[in-house]
Amino acid sequence: MDLNILNNLKLTKVTDSKIDSFDFENVKFGAKFTDHMLTCEYKNGEWGALEIKPYEPITLDPSARVFHYGQAIFEGMKAYKDENSDIWLFRPDENFNRFNKSATRLAMPTIDETRFIGGLKELIKIENQWVKKGLGNSLYIRPFMIATESGVIASPSNEFLFCILLSPAKSYYSGKIKVQIADYFSRAANGGIGAAKAAGNYSAQFYPTKLAQEAGYNQIIWTDSNHTHLEESGTMNVFFRINDTLYTAPTSDRILDGVTRKSLIVLAQHLGYDVKIEPVKVENIIEAAKNGSLKEIFGAGTAAVINQMEGFAYKDDYYELPNVADDESYALQLKNELTKLQNKLIADPFNWTVKV
Ligand SMILES: Cc1ncc(COP(=O)(O)O)c(C=O)c1O
Repeated sequence: MDLNILNNLKLTKVTDSKIDSFDFENVKFGAKFTDHMLTCEYKNGEWGALEIKPYEPITLDPSARVFHYGQAIFEGMKAYKDENSDIWLFRPDENFNRFNKSATRLAMPTIDETRFIGGLKELIKIENQWVKKGLGNSLYIRPFMIATESGVIASPSNEFLFCILLSPAKSYYSGKIKVQIADYFSRAANGGIGAAKAAGNYSAQFYPTKLAQEAGYNQIIWTDSNHTHLEESGTMNVFFRINDTLYTAPTSDRILDGVTRKSLIVLAQHLGYDVKIEPVKVENIIEAAKNGSLKEIFGAGTAAVINQMEGFAYKDDYYELPNVADDESYALQLKNELTKLQNKLIADPFNWTVKV
C-alpha cells in the first residue's frame, strides 16, 4: 500500500446521514446506497487523488465515451461484520485482479491496489454503521470504472472515472429457480469479453432473459457458441451434481472467473466431495436427468451465494430435478459453510477473509 495516496485522500462528509431512515429489515438488493462514495479520476495518463464524498449524481458530457461505446466495467463483492464488530472483506484481491483484467480487455487503465483495496477500506471505515452484524447481513460493494472523455469517436477514452458504491444487503430465500438452456442466444464468444465484467455483457443478456421469463423461467443457462456445453446461469457460474460428483466448466474467454465458484471448488474438496472441472455437455445433463443420476444444479455468485434450481427446460422439454433433502444437498451444505466462513462464524483455513 502507498501510504501517500491514502494520506492525500480528500474527505467530504455528509452533514446529515440517511441511516436513520434506512429500513434494514426490508432491504431490496442493490436498490439503496450508503451516505458516501469513493471516486478517483484518471487523466493525462495517471490516476489522481482518492476522494470520499457524499453519494451524489455524476455529471458527464453527453458525448462521453461510456454512453456511446460502452467502455465500462464493474465488480461485485461483499463485506461482513462479525460479533466483535470487526468488518471483513472476502478475497478482495480476487476482485481487484479481475477488475484489472477486465480493464485491460476493455482498453482501460489498470488501477493500483492502494486506490482499489486501500480506498475501499477507508470508505467502509467511514460507513461502519451501515454494516450490520448477523448471518445474512452484508454490505454489497460495487466498484466500477467508466470512460468519461467527450467526443463521439469510436476509440478508447483517455479519461476515466473509478468509483465505489456501497449498498446494505440481506440474504433472502427466493426459492428454487427454473432455468432454460440457451439454444439460440449467446452471452459470450471465443475471443470476446465474456470473461470480463464488462457492462455490455449484461445489457446483451437482458433481451434473451426477458424472453425466457415470459416463457416461465427465471433465467437462462448460457451455452458455448455451438450450444453444446453448459457454461453459466444468469449472472452466476453453474454447478451440476451427478450422483455424488460435482461438475463445473473450466473458465475460458466465455466464462467469468467467479470468486464464489473458485471458493466453492476448494471448499467442496475440503469437505471431501468429488469435484470435476471439465466441460459439461448438454446431452450428458439431459441423459443424467432422464436416468435419475442428476441430483442438483445450482448457480454460484456473490449476490445470492448459491441459487438452487428446481428444473430446467431444453428446447420443448422440461426436466424436473429430484427433491434432495436439505441435509443431503451439496448446494445447501456448501452455502452454509461458505456463508459461515465469510461471517467469521467458523475458522477460515484458507485465509480468504481480510480485515478492514
Ligand atoms: C456473468 C457472471 N458469472 C459469474 C458471476 C459470479 O462471480 P462471483 O462469484 O465473483 O460473484 C458473476 C458475478 O456475480 C457474473 O456476473
